[in-house]
Amino acid sequence: MTSALITGATAGIGAAFARRLAADGHDVVLVARDAERLREQATELHDRHGVEAEVLSADLAEDAGIAAVEARLADPKRPVDLLVNNAGFGNKGRFLEVGMADELRMMKVHCEAVLRLTAAATASMRERRRGGVVNVASVAAFVPRGTYGASKAWVVQFTQGAARDLAGSGVRLMALCPGFVRTEFHQRAGMGTDGIPGWMWLDADKVVSDALADLARGRTLSVPDPRYKALMGVVKLTPRGLLGGISSRAGRKYGPR
Ligand SMILES: NC(=O)c1ccc[n+]([C@@H]2O[C@H](COP(=O)([O-])OP(=O)(O)OC[C@H]3O[C@@H](n4cnc5c(N)ncnc54)[C@H](OP(=O)(O)O)[C@@H]3O)[C@@H](O)[C@H]2O)c1
Repeated sequence: MTSALITGATAGIGAAFARRLAADGHDVVLVARDAERLREQATELHDRHGVEAEVLSADLAEDAGIAAVEARLADPKRPVDLLVNNAGFGNKGRFLEVGMADELRMMKVHCEAVLRLTAAATASMRERRRGGVVNVASVAAFVPRGTYGASKAWVVQFTQGAARDLAGSGVRLMALCPGFVRTEFHQRAGMGTDGIPGWMWLDADKVVSDALADLARGRTLSVPDPRYKALMGVVKLTPRGLLGGISSRAGRKYGPR
């Protein structure tokens, strides 16, 4: 029996990871802030799949929350074989419209927590010579689009660099870059989604299944779904200046007022 720790496990992509990993027979450690929702989900996964489901209520925008999850990942008595750094959120508004405290919270959750939790997990995985880390980024990492895209670009660069440094150690790292996924993300951020065409929406369970297949193949970057693979191919060939214009127009159309 192996065990997986998933941050942001109560909703959207994180909940889909938890469901899939529990269904595959892995014990799970579920991390998010809402303790009651965590307990409900743990009970459901335990009852349905017969796995151990532990809850850890932690705010990854706070040092104490990050430290609590670091300590759990470093506990030699309860090794974690797969870490999914998934917790994340969007801020409503463009640069200078978002308060600095909210910008910094995003950096803390998307970058500092991912750095510290990846380090805590991989240090002990390397000693055991096995383990995996999935860091959830976004296709927004590949277009010049605000603090959110910049934080996700950091996740991609960091993850692929660490994967290279740990190559041959038995520890795999992969950045997961989904397009639009139907979750609570946009509603929580107060973002309108009416302008996003139906074909652009992905299903969280399918994203997770594609991601785990890519991790098993040893990929360090996963862009689920052929539509987004094609789109990212176009993005690579488009000059960054033009891309910035297209993406900021899309931001106006899709984003908050
Ligand atoms: N949905 C998309 O279109 C999309 C596309 C590309 C990438 N992503 C990325 O995918 C990841 C998951 O997003 P999602 O769409 O599944 O969002 P979601 O449905 O809003 O779920 C977010 C999860 O993160 C947790 N969370 C948020 N802030 C947290 C904090 N400070 N500390 C601990 N947990 C926190 C939430 O639980 P609590 O509120 O209880 O803490 C919840 O479980 C994010 O990193 C996001 O950037 C999303």
